Amino acid sequence: MKIVVIGGTGLIGSRVVSNLLEHGHEAVAASPNSGVNTITGEGLADALAGADVVVDVSNSPSFAEEDVLAFFTTSTNNLLAAEREAGVTHHVALSVVGSERLPSSGYLRAKVVQEDLIKDSGMPYSIVRATQFYEFAGRIADEATADGTVTLSTGLMQPIAAADVSATVARVAAHDPINGTLEIGGPERMGQDEFIRIGLTAKGDPRTVVGDPDAPYFGTPLAGDELVPGPDAQLSTTSFSDWLATQTAPAK
Ligand SMILES: NC(=O)c1ccc[n+]([C@@H]2O[C@H](COP(=O)([O-])OP(=O)(O)OC[C@H]3O[C@@H](n4cnc5c(N)ncnc54)[C@H](OP(=O)(O)O)[C@@H]3O)[C@@H](O)[C@H]2O)c1
Repeated sequence: MKIVVIGGTGLIGSRVVSNLLEHGHEAVAASPNSGVNTITGEGLADALAGADVVVDVSNSPSFAEEDVLAFFTTSTNNLLAAEREAGVTHHVALSVVGSERLPSSGYLRAKVVQEDLIKDSGMPYSIVRATQFYEFAGRIADEATADGTVTLSTGLMQPIAAADVSATVARVAAHDPINGTLEIGGPERMGQDEFIRIGLTAKGDPRTVVGDPDAPYFGTPLAGDELVPGPDAQLSTTSFSDWLATQTAPAK
């Protein structure tokens, strides 16, 4: 099967491509770095020629509210139109668990718009919604740091390894469209402050992490469990400590 991975050079995309190749599929990484741009349309028709499935794991280069909305709206519309033209029969996209529960987040509002465009397109689809990646911990910490202190919500998270997300996305892409949404998460539920405290400690990062129930998550208040998956979610087995043990950065 020919499977085009939009965002195939990214954290998730590069792993999805490797996984699909290992399983004998013709997987093609497509992104601006390889001359394929879903915003301008450059290279899109050529990349999609003969494709059976398109996996969209691209991300907006800017997280500013209006930029993210413009990115996911334009990119998804262009992609779906090019897929129809090319005779693609399955669109797979990666979204975020709980997006609709945090409408004051511009990023998550844009992910809901992306999902709705796909659902309304008539294209057979599968949406995988993942929790936050272990690899995203550094960005969460940096965003919440002031004067060497990281102030984070005590709201719950159930983070997951990027490798586990990628394996699921690749498996979904190689099967029939589910025309619905699959939720995935990691094996452990923990406070956001606890997640980041464990991660920074393991890396020898000297910053202090303070838990504050009222601290926002990228500007958005968290009441508690908006970001954790529901009872039907598929949970992976790689724990945060297992994943940390695989990271090579030496302790400072
Ligand atoms: N971070 C989290 O915890 C989390 C949780 C759940 C879901 N997600 C979702 O996971 C997805 C993938 O995230 P990621 O961290 O793997 O992203 P990433 O590492 O930042 O990679 C982004 C990819 O998008 C590509 N891209 C950017 N602009 C493009 C364009 N105009 N046309 C085509 N491709 C373009 C980039 O290509 P170049 O390399 O060529 O620039 C790159 O391959 C996102 O949709 C995100 O919403 C993230």
